[in-house]
Amino acid sequence: MVKPSHTSKPHQRTTSILFSPKLFIYLLSISAVLFIFFHIQSLHRHVPPPPQNNPSSSSSAVAKLRRSVTFLPLKDLRYSHKPLEGHTWFMSSMYDIHEDGEVQFQQFPSPAADGDARLLCLKGNDTHDGSWNYYAVAWPETLPENATVMKGLSFVSYNHYNYDNIWHGLSALMPFVAWHQIQGKCEIPERWILYHWGELRLKMGTWVRTIMEVTFGGPPKIEAFDGIGEGQPVCFEKAVVMRHNEGGMSRQRRMETYDLMRCKARLFCNFTSSEPSVATVGMTLFMRTGARSFKNETAVVEIFGAECNKVTGCQLRVAHSNNLTFCEQVSLMGKTDILVSPHGAQLTNMFLMDRNSSVMEFFPKGWLKLAGIGQFVYQWMASWSGMRHQGAWRDPHGLTCPYNEDDRRCMSIFKGGTIGYNRTYFSEWAKNVLNEVKIRKMNEAAHATANHVHECSCNQ
Ligand SMILES: *[C@@H]1O[C@H](CO)[C@@H](O)[C@H](O)[C@H]1NC(C)=O
Ligand SMILES: *[C@@H]1O[C@H](CO)[C@@H](O)[C@H](O)[C@H]1NC(C)=O
Ligand SMILES: *[C@@H]1O[C@H](CO)[C@@H](O)[C@H](O)[C@H]1NC(C)=O
Ligand SMILES: *[C@@H]1O[C@H](CO)[C@@H](O)[C@H](O)[C@H]1NC(C)=O
Ligand SMILES: *[C@@H]1O[C@H](CO)[C@@H](O)[C@H](O)[C@H]1NC(C)=O
Ligand SMILES: *[C@@H]1O[C@H](CO)[C@@H](O)[C@H](O)[C@H]1NC(C)=O
Ligand SMILES: *[C@@H]1O[C@H](CO)[C@@H](O)[C@H](O)[C@H]1NC(C)=O
Repeated sequence: MVKPSHTSKPHQRTTSILFSPKLFIYLLSISAVLFIFFHIQSLHRHVPPPPQNNPSSSSSAVAKLRRSVTFLPLKDLRYSHKPLEGHTWFMSSMYDIHEDGEVQFQQFPSPAADGDARLLCLKGNDTHDGSWNYYAVAWPETLPENATVMKGLSFVSYNHYNYDNIWHGLSALMPFVAWHQIQGKCEIPERWILYHWGELRLKMGTWVRTIMEVTFGGPPKIEAFDGIGEGQPVCFEKAVVMRHNEGGMSRQRRMETYDLMRCKARLFCNFTSSEPSVATVGMTLFMRTGARSFKNETAVVEIFGAECNKVTGCQLRVAHSNNLTFCEQVSLMGKTDILVSPHGAQLTNMFLMDRNSSVMEFFPKGWLKLAGIGQFVYQWMASWSGMRHQGAWRDPHGLTCPYNEDDRRCMSIFKGGTIGYNRTYFSEWAKNVLNEVKIRKMNEAAHATANHVHECSCNQ
């Protein structure tokens, strides 16, 4: 009888089984037989066992079912050439639930009334190779041998990048907020299980951890599987798995999700925005240090300051993203109508501004041709969070590359570039955006569409 080995190198075994159609059919028929056995056994559970029932045969069926739970590697190398497409290479045998415009997720047991009652089980805590960590689904009555059951709701996250960077971290975790808001009916997770390429991750960056803490009303407990014997399975009473970030969500649903996080963050930080005021326009220069910083901050502050001074009520603020606490960022964004900042993860903070606020972005030389589609993420995020991306300025001058400037190899040089300025262009651009914002705020005030989002609750 072919059984998936639980001992050394099981991923190679299971992979070869999956590739063989004959073995697959063989396994399928064994499962069918065992399933029937199990059903007979479970039917008998509700009535006194008839005398002719042989208890050892049914308990051996249960034992067989326990052993038949098949663990597959979390990272399926067969899909490494398209790790993010469709069912992805993470838990590749599973498909997501996806209603139009909603977040894509998996839930165990299935939330459907007549859905699959099986639980998600995980095994292993490798932090270097995701093909050494495993998943399986199992009936609650026949969980794999020695399985520990973890109670309550568990969030299982797949992140193709990392949990430290505020953009990549938020992109991976934001769909849990969307789920919590609608499908989860405000349910709060007991624990988080974080993966990157199937490798276990034990922490999130401070900003990312804090936004999850404020959203879910307590610090996230990140599971490390301490105290679980090596290679022993853990099964979850209820698990929700995300592996597509915001993918599939409508703009409306994305905006609602960001609205919730903004609202929770402001509550947590005791930020009470002053009355929606036509009288003020907040313009914030959000500076970086090192790569993609402005070559001459003084000059940039001077240019934007001069334009701000020409507009009644304009308040210019200059801040450095690297040394603000989470709540300082929340408070600063709450007072910002126009965010002026180089391309970089600090722009993720934009969703903390009131809706319809503006973003002005800056790039060093060479990015347009070489940086790929990822350079547009803050343009997308502005749209997703209900902000207005007012375009980007791309420095025509900068570092020189020894190759032709279209050569991919130049990106490694341009990546670390800094950003200069063009006084004429910046002044004109700032003036136009300031005017637009001023007019918008006046219109919104006149039509009493107070630009205030009080929606801090989810749909219970
Ligand atoms: C279950 O735990 C016992 C005791 O630690 C151990 O002897 C046994 O091998 C374990 N079974 C499996 C399948 O790992
Ligand atoms: C996790 O790793 C630790 C240290 O390597 C080990 O002692 C523990 O048994 C592991 N847990 C699981 C579930 O594999
Ligand atoms: C917010 O205000 C409450 C009550 O005054 C206080 O306990 C809490 O520490 C404040 N939170 C922050 C982040 O300042
Ligand atoms: C930066 O700009 C200011 C204002 O235009 C100018 O006075 C200063 O010399 C510049 N600094 C450098 C290092 O170029
Ligand atoms: C924040 O960082 C910037 C740049 O590193 C520095 O100039 C500024 O003084 C720092 N501010 C505080 C309050 O530490
Ligand atoms: C600065 O911007 C203006 C207006 O867009 C443009 O005409 C000019 O050529 C730019 N100057 C430099 C040095 O790039
Ligand atoms: C944002 O702008 C749109 C389009 O002008 C408007 O319909 C909407 O009410 C504004 N949203 C808020 C929150 O003010």
